Amino acid sequence: MSYVANRLSVVKPSASMAASQAAKALRATGVDVIDLSLGEPDFPTPVHITEAAYKAALAGETLYTAAAGTPTLRAAVADKFRRENGLDYNADDIVVANGAKQIIFNALMATLNDGDEVILPAPYFVSYPEMAKLLGGVPVIVECGAKDGFRLTAESLEKAITPRTKWLFLNMPGNPSGAVYSESDLASLGAVLEKHPQVLILSDEIYEHILFDGRKFVSFGKACPGLKDRTLIVNGVAKAYAMTGWRIGYGAGPAPLVKAMSTIQSQSCTSVAAPMQAAALAALTGPQDCVAEFRTAFQRRRDLVVSGIAGIEGLTLSPPEGAFYAYIGCESLIGRRTPKGEVLKDDVAVSNYLLAEGHVSSVPGLAYGLSPFFRISTATSDEILKEAIARIGRAVAALEPAEAAL
Ligand SMILES: Cc1ncc(COP(=O)(O)O)c(C=O)c1O
Repeated sequence: MSYVANRLSVVKPSASMAASQAAKALRATGVDVIDLSLGEPDFPTPVHITEAAYKAALAGETLYTAAAGTPTLRAAVADKFRRENGLDYNADDIVVANGAKQIIFNALMATLNDGDEVILPAPYFVSYPEMAKLLGGVPVIVECGAKDGFRLTAESLEKAITPRTKWLFLNMPGNPSGAVYSESDLASLGAVLEKHPQVLILSDEIYEHILFDGRKFVSFGKACPGLKDRTLIVNGVAKAYAMTGWRIGYGAGPAPLVKAMSTIQSQSCTSVAAPMQAAALAALTGPQDCVAEFRTAFQRRRDLVVSGIAGIEGLTLSPPEGAFYAYIGCESLIGRRTPKGEVLKDDVAVSNYLLAEGHVSSVPGLAYGLSPFFRISTATSDEILKEAIARIGRAVAALEPAEAAL
């Protein structure tokens, strides 16, 4: 007897969760492992946000809410888009869900017919292809290498579009690469999309506030206003306000799409927990100093990792422009032999080796659709990052050169 539906046969569990499990298993044997596989801010949620949830619950905000979110929170999200992104949405164009991930899932469930294609510039967030496949879609992977700054070009986009294309996914700043698109980059993608009216655009802007070197964020919606009726902007409070466990994300898009997404939500989870919505409201409408403080810390850690990796022969890293990851190139390590005699054949082997020999957990590039790289999260203390880089350096130095291995 099989318990599992056929549709699950194509779906993989999250690679970053798997890497984290491997780190935990090694740690359970007594090894001191540094786990840099998961991406979540290590700061506590600001106190005023936690208090808002507590007060809301005490005041009786403990019932189901509207499926799309409380009117107050949706109005605050619309306000956020106006204030921070220069985008004009009504509360009716907004849907709140249990994390940005649920927004993405609902959007695909609301729109995909079997065989519809979803264009994913690689490296991509690990959940995108799995969600698309689970819902009958076909991921179309477009590799965007380091030479293009890990950004999709208008030319590659044009080549990837077919009559079956339903969605183009963009993610900026990108997980895992940190790549950011300028207004003109987006405008040139927009010019291609204008010619293909069947294509919807999902712009995942969850890392918008974690942007380095004084860059200013430009939303896809701002750069391509002519595509508003085909664009879903995805965002949330998880990364900007250190609220990953609170599970609040939101989307803004054309009313018929948002309505369909709310219907799915009403039949699956009814609504997001009311006190969590109160917390998100406090995050969006309260003091914003924490956002800048977190950004400063992430910039310092980014700088630390960039200079640390630059000192390790065989690894490459172009400075991430945003988010809190480093997507480290390891092409030169392929073919080298470990002290135990194993030849590193791909980035999965490199990542496994770094865990086994260096006791640092990372996620191989294979999981993000672009090899050979591995991703580390920089959302941890400066001390831990310094120690992790020292360990990676020692593990890499212990490898025998490729020539000797052949
Ligand atoms: C690109 C991207 N989108 C969405 C998410 C998930 O956001 P949430 O925690 O709001 O579901 C993540 C989390 O790692 C992410 O990296």
